[in-house]
Amino acid sequence: MVGVILLGAPGAGKGTQAQFITSYLNIPQISTGDMLRQAIASGSELGLKASHIIESGGLVPDLIVIGLVKERIQQPDCMNGYLFDGFPRTLAQADSLKHSGIKIDYVVEIDVPEDIIVKRLSGRRVHVPSGRTYHIDFQPPHAQGVDDITGEPLIQRNDDTEETIRKRLAVYKTQTSPLIDYYKQDNAVHYLTIDGTQDVEVVKANILEFIHK
Ligand code: AP5
Repeated sequence: MVGVILLGAPGAGKGTQAQFITSYLNIPQISTGDMLRQAIASGSELGLKASHIIESGGLVPDLIVIGLVKERIQQPDCMNGYLFDGFPRTLAQADSLKHSGIKIDYVVEIDVPEDIIVKRLSGRRVHVPSGRTYHIDFQPPHAQGVDDITGEPLIQRNDDTEETIRKRLAVYKTQTSPLIDYYKQDNAVHYLTIDGTQDVEVVKANILEFIHK
């Protein structure tokens, strides 16, 4: 059983690296962002609530997100472990994980400066059903506009506008970055900060080596 958290600002490359870690460790990716977007796509009550918040770049209330994660972690595919991508995002979410006895072994912080993030997110394209992520210049799909595996269309997320990206970055600074010290001070956790401006393959190799140890 292995528990991993990917920490980092919007656009740092969490989703990109999550794909490699999950297949390496054979564990599921639990992305609260993907779960909320699925709720929006299904037209559920939760989706309606979340859509305005996500489009404005704010955070969905802790209780809602914690509830989603607690339910997800009960699924049989989490028996060998789980990778959290975009969760926890506040101290309250991190405390709730701890108090629920959900074990975390590794926290990987992907560090990328803001100006690079804005470029990355404005060029990002996503395959919604799988969460696979591309970039029109840095990590293009084999054929323009379609997913490599299914051939289905890629979309641009509607929170990937410059104004919303800046708001999301500000929210990261105030509400999520305190988790860096929170986990660095936790002796039960192995903590790695990685320079996320390096090539995708270099970041991947460093993370897999860290987790392998
Ligand atoms: P969420 O979906 O979690 O978005 P995010 O944290 O803002 O992160 P992103 O998905 O934007 O970026 P990423 O780090 O995964 O980067 P990626 O790999 O795609 O959350 C969305 C919203 O949902 C939140 O704003 C909030 O409202 C709500 N929410 C979610 N979780 C919540 C929670 N726990 N509590 C409350 N609210 C919550 O990479 C970005 C681009 O860069 C891609 O195009 C990629 O190809 C490219 N790239 C990646 N790595 C590299 C590299 N090394 N070099 C060059 N390009 C690269």
